[in-house]
Amino acid sequence: MSKLNMEDHIKEVLFTEEEIQKKCEEIGAKITEDYNGELVVVGILKGAIPFMMDLVKRIDRPVVMDFMDVKSYEGTTTTGEVRILKDLSIKVEGKDVLIVEDIIDTGLTLSYLLEVLRSRGAKSLNVCTLLTKPARRKKDIKTKYIGFEIEDNFVVGYGMDYNEGYRNLPYIGILDESVYI
Ligand code: IMP
Ligand code: MG
Repeated sequence: MSKLNMEDHIKEVLFTEEEIQKKCEEIGAKITEDYNGELVVVGILKGAIPFMMDLVKRIDRPVVMDFMDVKSYEGTTTTGEVRILKDLSIKVEGKDVLIVEDIIDTGLTLSYLLEVLRSRGAKSLNVCTLLTKPARRKKDIKTKYIGFEIEDNFVVGYGMDYNEGYRNLPYIGILDESVYI
């Protein structure tokens, strides 16, 4: 199958474009309520980009955007060792920081990132994720804002990828096993 027919690779649509937009509005309103001053929104590359872009437009507070790119060390996922490929360009010391993620799976990536940002002296540090797969959690992550809880399925679209593909789908769907088996 060619990448030109991305739709054919989706077994089931979990969340439509409309449902995702509605969720961004809801979460954006909550964040607006919860914060007063400037908020530093940190997006985790690359998966969180579409969500972060829709979300920040719904936050009626001054927002500063920054990005981090991280990679889990292969073979050592149980230790949660993560390598920073791209670090923040601004200082978070004394700032209200909100990390935006596409999906929390084992929780290892975020548990490491939270530790790093906490050590840099952020005034407050919270997590906003569009999706969570609680069944696979290895590290408990305190998550202030959660879009949707899903079962243990591999999903793609709206930023989430399989081998770097499908990120530009406007909806989120379960990838058909025939693509990776
Ligand atoms: P964790 O450290 O296991 O929580 O990994 C989280 C990261 O794994 C996410 O930021 C995603 O990039 C990736 N990931 C986890 N589950 C999925 C999925 O179902 N589809 C696509 N990417 C996923
Ligand atoms: Mg990611």
